[in-house]
Amino acid sequence: MDGNGRWARERGLPREAGHLEGMKAVRETVEGAGRAGVGILTLFAFSTENWKRPAREIGALMDVLRSFAARECENLVRERVEVRVLGELDRLDAESLAAVRRIVDRTRGGDRLLLNLLISYGAREEIARAARALAREVREGLLDPAEIDVRRFARELYTRDLPDPDLLIRTSGEHRVSNFMLWQIAYAELYITPVYWPDFTRENLFAAILDYQRRERRFGRVLAG
Ligand code: FPP
Repeated sequence: MDGNGRWARERGLPREAGHLEGMKAVRETVEGAGRAGVGILTLFAFSTENWKRPAREIGALMDVLRSFAARECENLVRERVEVRVLGELDRLDAESLAAVRRIVDRTRGGDRLLLNLLISYGAREEIARAARALAREVREGLLDPAEIDVRRFARELYTRDLPDPDLLIRTSGEHRVSNFMLWQIAYAELYITPVYWPDFTRENLFAAILDYQRRERRFGRVLAG
């Protein structure tokens, strides 16, 4: 969800205003995904690298997160959206952690859309964490290193029970993946739009999905016929 800062700067507003406006685009996208029949929507809300931003901006982002959890919780329950949160949550302050836990608990069992929020998330950290978990099992004699293949490794990731993403949308025109699900996006289709995140609408989401539908996915193979 990139471009909040630039959106704000172009309007002479503080960066925090961009994050606040970004919350509206989250609502748009959740509704759009539901309408388009998307089963899983993953939003990269806060990266491990974002902890290096000024304290004031981190505080503002946590405020936005808490207000999203408070404002949207009942809407999401009604819309049968299940929220999951993936990342190093022990780095969150107590209040933000409680807000996040509450929305996860309240929305559990929603069967229309799974909304993954990546918070305090970094793909390299996720992969290192998986390696540590496997190493511990080996050390305890519970796992033979020869059994560690792609499937076994993937079971240690936050996404253990989820399919890989089909489509990765990057807003604000940047051509990079910025530590987003590096393992899981091996064969994801990339869609880059110049639209800043706060301006992202459901029409933008539908355009990305239509573009995706025209792609030919080969997963490294040749297609028959
Ligand atoms: C990147 O834009 C965006 C973020 C670091 C925060 C994204 C968070 C939200 C949209 C808040 C709402 C989300 C939820 C799930 C409640 P940037 O600040 O790097 O923008 P810039 O590249 O233009 O400076």
